[in-house]
Parts: sequence; structure tokens; C-alpha cells
Amino acid sequence: MSNVQKYGVFGDPIHHSLSPVMHNAAFSNLGIPAVYEAFLVKPGDLEHAVLKAKDDGFRGLNITIPHKESVLKFDFISPDPFSKMVGAANTLRFLPTGIEAFNTDAMGALLALESENCSTDGKNILVIGAGGASRSISFLFGQRQNPLKIINRTAEKAEKLAAEISGKTGNNVSAGGFSNLLDDVEWADIIIQTTELGMGKYESVSVFDQTESVDSDENLRNNLLKKYLTPNTVVFDIVYNPKETKFLKEARTAGAKTINGTMMLVYQGALAFELWTGQKPDVSVMKDAVLKALDAKQNEK
Ligand code: ATR
Repeated sequence: MSNVQKYGVFGDPIHHSLSPVMHNAAFSNLGIPAVYEAFLVKPGDLEHAVLKAKDDGFRGLNITIPHKESVLKFDFISPDPFSKMVGAANTLRFLPTGIEAFNTDAMGALLALESENCSTDGKNILVIGAGGASRSISFLFGQRQNPLKIINRTAEKAEKLAAEISGKTGNNVSAGGFSNLLDDVEWADIIIQTTELGMGKYESVSVFDQTESVDSDENLRNNLLKKYLTPNTVVFDIVYNPKETKFLKEARTAGAKTINGTMMLVYQGALAFELWTGQKPDVSVMKDAVLKALDAKQNEK
């Protein structure tokens, strides 16, 4: 039997995934004989694929879009308390006793903030978006009893998520649409952007384009944003490609401290790696591998 440990990521689509280069760099840096591969798994095939991975001796898997919620439906998977509360998992660990599920996305976001010297305790957190990515992050800050507001294009979706988090954490989470965006921005110490705005087909769109209260003229907009964003405001966009979204650029120009999604990707991976191997990977090795792969993608364009 080969002693090479097997790991991977299941998703659909999956060809863009940076997890293989990131994890393989970490394994090789620690001298762990392991291989991490990306697998295209269609929604109907998830159960079979997870069971096959177990039979094939896999030690761990990452689970990504669109499977993070559905993976918890299988009764042969035991979720840890946080992934159970959120209802979504991104990491599976295969043990002789069974398969465990974890959610390292939210803690990845927290560690990304902390790695930029941004402490979060007691800070007012504004989360933009109410989809899957927002869900994990919002639950974490809800559970940590931060003052928390979730805003979303579709306000009802934010309200529903806020009510669910309030019910499960005892925190009093507020919610709304984008109509009071500037007041919400002024209230926040930390703003976390979780929507697809700024990437792919929305590359030229910022959250500030979504409200009538912000001018479209660049100079007017910058002057306005300067009144609501301070040098102490931290603006974190979980998008990592492009490295600086339009939203992040506007926040930086207005004087806020900005952070992109690279380190969240790295830390969610590092936490999974530690769950699988019991060893702490070198996050700088993982970050370098991600940045190199992103640069290569950029050159392909
Ligand atoms: P993810 O898992 O990446 O969070 P998702 O669950 O599909 O993906 O959620 C997408 C998020 O991006 C939602 O908050 C969505 O807002 P709606 O609930 O109103 O759809 C947001 N989003 C997507 N396209 C958007 C757009 N053009 N303008 C504003 N918000 C958008």
C-alpha cells in the first residue's frame, strides 16, 4: 500500500480552485508525503463521491460551492457544533470512527483580520450580503456577541438570516437593504463585503453603485465617502481575484484600511490542514503559492 496521504476538494465548478497549489505547497514544506487534488463533483453525485473517498483511504476533503450545505444532510457525517449551527461545512475529516465535518471559512475570515492587526472584540461589524459566504461569517460574529448588522440587495434575505442568528446566539442582530448604506458604513468599525460584486461579470461594480445616496461622479463620491469612512474603519472584501475590487479601491482612496480575501482563503485552508494532520502549516508558504498561482492566471488573460 502506498503511504502517500490523499486529500482533495469537491466542487462544481472546480477548475479555478487554488486549494491544490496551496495545500500541496504546505505538505511539501513540511515533508508530508501527500497529494491534494481537485475533483469535479456534480450535485447528485456528492454522497457517492464522499463514500468513495472514504473507501479509497482519503484523510480529508474540502467541500466547496455548491455542496457546503448539502454535505450536512448525510447521516454518516457528524458536524462539529459550529458547522451544525451554521448549517454549512467546508472541511471533512476521515477517521477510523467516522467522518467529521467542520466550517473553517468563518474562522479563516477572523484570522485574516487578526493577521492584519485588526482586533474584532466588541467592534461593530457590518456584513454586506446574505448568501452562503455571509452566513458563516455572520454566524461567527453573532456567536461572539459583536454588535452586528447584515445588509443585502434583497433586504428580506438579510432579515431572515439575522433572525436566525439572533435566535441561535442570543445576539440582537440587525438587518436591512442598501438604502441606509452610508449610515451603516459610518456605524461600522469593520465592514465585510461577501457578495460577488467586484468579481467576474460584476468586476466594474461596487456596493456603492447600488444606492442612490452615493454620487456616481468619482470626485464627489470620494469626498462623500471620506465623511463616512475613517482611517480606523477596516474594510475587508473576501474577494481575492481581482486583488483589489472596485469597492476596496474606493474605500482605500477614502482613507480606510483595506484587506482583500487572500488571507481568508489561506487561513481557512490552514485550519483544515491542521485538522487533518495535527500540524500547523506555514501560512506564508501557502500565501506565496496562492499569489504565484493568481499571477499566473493574470498572465494567461
Ligand atoms: P455566496 O455563496 O458566494 O455568498 P450566494 O449564496 O449565491 O453566493 O449569495 C450571493 C450574494 O451576492 C447575495 O447576498 C446576493 O444578493 P441577493 O440575495 O439580493 O441576490 C449578492 N449579489 C449577487 N449579485 C448581486 C448584485 N448584482 N448586486 C447586489 N448583490 C448581489
